[in-house]
Amino acid sequence: MKWPNHGGQPETMKQLFGINQDSELLDFSANLNPLGPPTWLNSALADHYDTITRYPEPTYSRTTASLAKSEGVEENQILLTNGGAEAIFLVAKYFENKKAIIVQPTFIEYERACLHYHIEMEDVFLEKEKEFQLPLTCILEKLSSTDVIFLCRPNNPTGTVVKEEELQVLLEEGKRTGTFVVIDEAFVDFLPVSIPSLTTWLEMYPNVILLRSLTKIYSIPGLRVGYMMAGPTIIHAIRKEQIPWSVNALVDAMVPKLLEDKTFIKQTRGWLEEQSQFIGEALTNLAFYRSPSNVNFYLLQDKRPLDTDRLFQFLLKNGVVTRHTHNFKGLNGEYIRLAIRSKKENERLVYLLQKWRNES
Ligand SMILES: Cc1ncc(COP(=O)(O)O)c(C=O)c1O
Repeated sequence: MKWPNHGGQPETMKQLFGINQDSELLDFSANLNPLGPPTWLNSALADHYDTITRYPEPTYSRTTASLAKSEGVEENQILLTNGGAEAIFLVAKYFENKKAIIVQPTFIEYERACLHYHIEMEDVFLEKEKEFQLPLTCILEKLSSTDVIFLCRPNNPTGTVVKEEELQVLLEEGKRTGTFVVIDEAFVDFLPVSIPSLTTWLEMYPNVILLRSLTKIYSIPGLRVGYMMAGPTIIHAIRKEQIPWSVNALVDAMVPKLLEDKTFIKQTRGWLEEQSQFIGEALTNLAFYRSPSNVNFYLLQDKRPLDTDRLFQFLLKNGVVTRHTHNFKGLNGEYIRLAIRSKKENERLVYLLQKWRNES
């Protein structure tokens, strides 16, 4: 079976599993905000149609200034990128031919980027038995021979968050050994306000590089917008490697408006709190394992992990596409990743899981 590399490909799933092309699938495989995109975006994009007739302003100064203001950092600490994906590849280029640790299971693109830039990789693993927490001691032992650590916080696919105290130990030690820590915060806006982003750490730790994406929170994967934050010297060096006009003019015009829409983020947090609770209780009642996620997706496992492919196919045949975990290192397909969707969609999912429980 040639499983797709990423979620959000219901059409491919239909083809792979012989599902009628005309049938509707609910997509629980992509971890996008179901409240998005914000309703005003449609007409705002149309209003800025003319921007496509000109090159974007090469330094994206207005957008960079609005990002800096929103994050509370200096403009020279920010680089706008063509999605979080470009930020990952640019940062990997910065560590070309060096040595990296990747905290697995995680987003597959860190590994692809490291391979591309001939970075020697070593994996360390978050384990279910330890609530998917950071294997700090194991990483510290390897630190003096490591140039960079890639970790995702909140982590895709577990939804878990590395503890601040542990990260601080890592960054302090990293200062001593000359090790950088790249933290992908693509899902940070889904976290409850009680778990803040790490932006304020940029001042304390010159060895931290933060990666961001606006894709997930605003549900705009087709627009391609992300950024990175780090010390001015790193940003300056990485900027030199970025292709000119990497981010298109429509994105340049939309980012300041997206950042202004605080109501949308507030509504998102309200929806997520309510629906996480609903899903959490339903899965506990049905005796499924759910990873201790803090965000809008989680790993699900039935009592017998070997049943996972059957559960995946059962849901698919009943109109729900989920994310397989065959290409997440350490998970070996023994879980499925599910997004938290709208109330109606979540209820449908719970109904199907109940049906699966009754039938299996
Ligand atoms: C953890 C993580 N980082 C970055 C990305 C890439 O996001 P973007 O669409 O902004 O390139 C993804 C996409 O799935 C992701 O899961």
